Order: sequence, then structure tokens, then C-alpha cells
Amino acid sequence: MAETRPLVPVVTIDGPSGSGKGTISRRVADQLGWHLLDSGALYRLVALAGLDRGLDPESVAAHAALAETMRVSFGADAAGAERVNLEGQDVTARIRLEEVGQGASRVAAWPPVRAALLERQRRFAEPPGLVADGRDMGTVVFPGAVLKIFLTASAEERAARRHKQLKDKGSAVSLAALSREIAERDLRDSTRAVAPLRPAEDALIIDSTGLSVAAVVERVLELGRQRSLWS
Ligand code: C5P
Repeated sequence: MAETRPLVPVVTIDGPSGSGKGTISRRVADQLGWHLLDSGALYRLVALAGLDRGLDPESVAAHAALAETMRVSFGADAAGAERVNLEGQDVTARIRLEEVGQGASRVAAWPPVRAALLERQRRFAEPPGLVADGRDMGTVVFPGAVLKIFLTASAEERAARRHKQLKDKGSAVSLAALSREIAERDLRDSTRAVAPLRPAEDALIIDSTGLSVAAVVERVLELGRQRSLWS
């Protein structure tokens, strides 16, 4: 499906799990006062909705139908923390469970699910601008984006970051198990036939290994300034 060139500026931030895309995208969006699309959350919501409805985990058509019709909303609580709703239920914590991430990666390999989410994702592009976080934001969803970033980090550092994140939330997952899961997910995401994880040809690659969040955010903002996208 062809993209109509976005009328509002879009910055895409793609990369593998644990590269820090989520945190960086949110900070960049906050700094610019732009909207944020967490596209991974949409795939996670499809997987979660499928689990909750007891769908056949192999049914592509049933998951594609859910991707089309599920009622979701993204917001923030009084303290500014992200809240995600599915069919009126707060599922903010549940969509981050590792098993939901694995489920998301499975349903994300199915073309009808990706097609069903395409328009939903493009509707997030509203004035004054959008920061879109995902795997195929620069390659498929917003090929006309004004700035495309591909964020990476070494596999060890990504596993360690995920480990810390989960530990902070109180779940005890071993680092070795997480490293294995991240490697599996990377492989599945980058070898799938449709919209595999890869940098867009015109993407700028930032390796965040050993860099602080603030340093990466500054790098992204600087790249935009150099291109006169903002001041
Ligand atoms: O980024 P996050 O870990 O929330 O994404 C969950 C899964 O959703 C990824 O492993 C990937 O398979 C899928 N995904 C995708 N395309 C996107 C965003 C996420 O295929 N744009």
C-alpha cells in the first residue's frame, strides 16, 4: 500500500529489542512536543487480545481481524506515565510481559496482521509531528519520514538493559534466558519475509552501546538541527 507523503513531519526510530528505542523515542517526542507512536505496543496488543480471547495461536485470520477491530487507546496518568488500554481495560503492565513480547514477534511475522495495522499506525501522524518507534517505521510505514534513525547496541548490552528493566519491575528472569530470547527474537524479526528488521537505505545509524540516554537523545536532536527540522 503506497504511503501518501505525510503532511506532518515524522521522525522514525527503528532498531532491535533492547536498543533503547522506546526510551529515546519518548524523550525525543517530549522535547519536541510531538506525538509518539509505539508500534511494538500495537503488535503486543494483538498478541494479548488473542490470548485473552483464547484464539487459536496459529490462526492468522483471527489475529488479523483483531488487529483491525481491537479498541485501543494510549494515554498518560496524572504523573505522566504511559497507560495503554485494550477494550477499556488497563493493560499497561501486561503488554510488557516477556511472553507477550514473544507472541507479538510471532503475530508480527504474518502479512495480514501487518497490513491490518498499517493504516492504524499512519493515523498517529498528526500535527505538529510524530516520533515513530518500531522495526519498519522508516522502511514501510513512513518511507517519507524527514529523519530516519536506526538505533543499535551490542546484544550483551541489550540483554543487560532488558534484565535491569524487568528486575526493576520485580520479575526474576535470568540474564542467560533473556540473552537467548533476545537472540531468537532478533533472528525472527530480521529474517521474516515481510518487513524484516533492517535499516532504511536513508537511515542514520546510532550505536548506543556505552552511551547514556541523554547522549543518544542529544545526538538525534542534533541530527534534526543539522537538517533544519527544528532549532
Ligand atoms: O518493540 P517491542 O519489543 O515492543 O515489539 C514487540 C515485537 O513486535 C517485536 O519483537 C517485533 O516482532 C514486533 N514489531 C514489528 N514491527 C514493529 C514493531 C514491533 O514487527 N514496527
